[in-house]
Amino acid sequence: MSDAPKKFYLTTPIYYVNARPHIGHAYTTIVADVLARRHRLLGDDTFFLTGTDEHGQKIERSAAAAGVPPQQFTDQVAHEFKTLWDRMGITYDKFIRTTDPAHKLGVQQLWRALEEKGFIYLDTYTGSYCVSDEAFVDAPAGTPCPDCGRLLETVTEENYFFKLSAFQDKLIALIESNTLKIENDSRRNEVLSFVRGGLKDLSISRSSFKWGIPVPGNDKHVIYVWLDALANYITALGYGSDDTTNFEKFWPADLQLVGKEIIRFHCVYWPAFLLAAGLPIPQAITAHGWLLFDNSKMSKSKGNIVRTETILDALGTLCPPEPQPELVARVLLGRKRPSPKDLFASDVLRYFLLREIPFGYDGSFSFDALWERYNADLVNGYGNLVSRTLNLISQNEPDGIERPTSFSAEGTSFIKDGVSQVTRYPTHLSSNEITAYVTELSLLVGHVDRYLSTHAPWKLAKETTAEARKTLVEVLYTSAEAIRLLTIFLHPIMPYATARVWAQLGLDPADLTTNHQSLTTWGQLKPGTKLGPLSPIFPRADKSLIEIMTNMENETTPPSNPTPDSTAPDAAPRTTTLPGSGTLTVGGSTALNTGPAPMPPQPTDTPAPAEASTISIDDFAKIELRVAQIVVAERIPKADKLLRLEVDLGPDFPRRQILSGIAEHYTPEELIGRRIVVITNLAPRKMRGLESHGMLLAASHGENGKPILATFAEDIALGSRLK
Ligand code: MSP
Repeated sequence: MSDAPKKFYLTTPIYYVNARPHIGHAYTTIVADVLARRHRLLGDDTFFLTGTDEHGQKIERSAAAAGVPPQQFTDQVAHEFKTLWDRMGITYDKFIRTTDPAHKLGVQQLWRALEEKGFIYLDTYTGSYCVSDEAFVDAPAGTPCPDCGRLLETVTEENYFFKLSAFQDKLIALIESNTLKIENDSRRNEVLSFVRGGLKDLSISRSSFKWGIPVPGNDKHVIYVWLDALANYITALGYGSDDTTNFEKFWPADLQLVGKEIIRFHCVYWPAFLLAAGLPIPQAITAHGWLLFDNSKMSKSKGNIVRTETILDALGTLCPPEPQPELVARVLLGRKRPSPKDLFASDVLRYFLLREIPFGYDGSFSFDALWERYNADLVNGYGNLVSRTLNLISQNEPDGIERPTSFSAEGTSFIKDGVSQVTRYPTHLSSNEITAYVTELSLLVGHVDRYLSTHAPWKLAKETTAEARKTLVEVLYTSAEAIRLLTIFLHPIMPYATARVWAQLGLDPADLTTNHQSLTTWGQLKPGTKLGPLSPIFPRADKSLIEIMTNMENETTPPSNPTPDSTAPDAAPRTTTLPGSGTLTVGGSTALNTGPAPMPPQPTDTPAPAEASTISIDDFAKIELRVAQIVVAERIPKADKLLRLEVDLGPDFPRRQILSGIAEHYTPEELIGRRIVVITNLAPRKMRGLESHGMLLAASHGENGKPILATFAEDIALGSRLK
């Protein structure tokens, strides 16, 4: 991909307003903001869209439950989302609401385009509907929705249908040729197998409630909320209005970021609508995993959400006074001006989420991890590096930074190597590269830190020889230059903290926030550069911060609802993940674990006493074994033995992720679709930054102990218990 500036249109999903924002929403928005900032800094003409999804039965019911008219209800929650993004300094170019009049006109225009091309027809539909997912589902009413577990309702009504079936072959071809790029591969395969499984025509109107955009020419019907919502990506650019300049300039989207649960809507329905209307399809759609809290997806009704406001309020108290307040304006790129406290806290949260959660996978959020990562990476890492280096420069180089006449290769080469690792990600840092990019940066901080410790400039400063002075100048310049480069690379992730470091280095913030392309070559720090006023960047956080955040959450989070009302919006979690890890292989009567986290070794030379080798039936009953089907299987980068699996346990249980050490014996392709046995009540384990929630049962075969997965000769329902 060329590094020449180009246009870059980036979108987040628009968030439902039935629930207040939590850090799951913030996660997607943060990733998008990092990418948008990076593209702008490299000169790309960037348009970053976010907003709220405000129509549909779910919102109508939420408003009724709150006792307010839907418009008033959506105004309140949309305002909360917008206020939060503004507090965090999110640089969206447009915040769209599906209740905006211009959006409504655009959606009706899209409807007419589909109708004119003959892709809409009227028919009667009786079937099951999931109110929470706002989707028709191919399963009996009264049973749990296969996607989210809430009970399905029967709907009989006259509906308009979209001829989705006409696009099956076309979609397969577009996805297979990567014309529609779906990241990552396991999501792409999931979408392909869904489309190959056969596409049925889609009901795209509802007449049993009113809260939606009327179907043009038949206002007894409102337009299906997903057609309404997906269209936001083009109506925000002026599609269907008098001014289509932005639409012509920015469409198709370069990247659409979504959570993994809505890929079907984005990778099947959305491109089909666009193809039918004769419009270009997006270039790329990328799905990320979920933020889990207490091992399940954050969800309002489970009471396991973490509010971003809690983190801003608590971390904000650590924010050191800012000697140069005009910096705040610099990092905002023209938005409303948040407080330094909010920007500081938001930086910490941004760094934490990107460093901690491997992009594309589920990851657990905890206040402990946030606190630990803050102290380890930001206080002891980057922050300490900056303050050690700049204090030494200010004490020993009163006329400004000195530059050595020559560098010893030993001094600079390993830092330059580190820098070149980072510059491997030029303009096209993709969302899938974010984790590697941030990890590379934290390694670079470690390199420079070790370089400083090895050369101990604080000792050199006390020596009087010319040789010591020469080395001191070289070490300080090299470290300061490394900090300059680190600061450039970290800027999209922590815009405020890096602007402060930049100013302390004595550099012009205008450079940091406008032009990165020319700043990333080694050695640009000019001799004589006078440092700005020095002050701490990341003060140490006391462990009490964890308790403070936990208490703040407990005070504001409604108690969890153990038996959620299936008709309430967001009434049950979209998924729940449970315990365990790896593969438990059973050879004869001996349990042997071939997974990456071995069980304690079994005694070999001394036979175990008879009582120790038997267990009571009650002990056995404690192990929950269930029938599951592997639906996703993929290799994990840099882990030769591990596979990441997602298994389906039938409609009564949510899908779960299991990491299993069987990669040397099974390919991902041969596993997909296999019915297996899973131990479902093991405590979750983290491996390679990923959570594993269960073990597969396998027999150990032959001398090498090859695991052979336990399976069934007869048909058996998913989720059935083995006893
Ligand atoms: N309104 C639809 C999207 C329409 S887009 C045309 C919707 N809204 S949502 O509010 O339920 O979720 C939207 C997105 O929020 C998810 O796809 C994901 O990006 C983000 N997240 C919500 N909860 C999340 C987590 N617990 N973890 C990570 N992201 C989460 O679906």
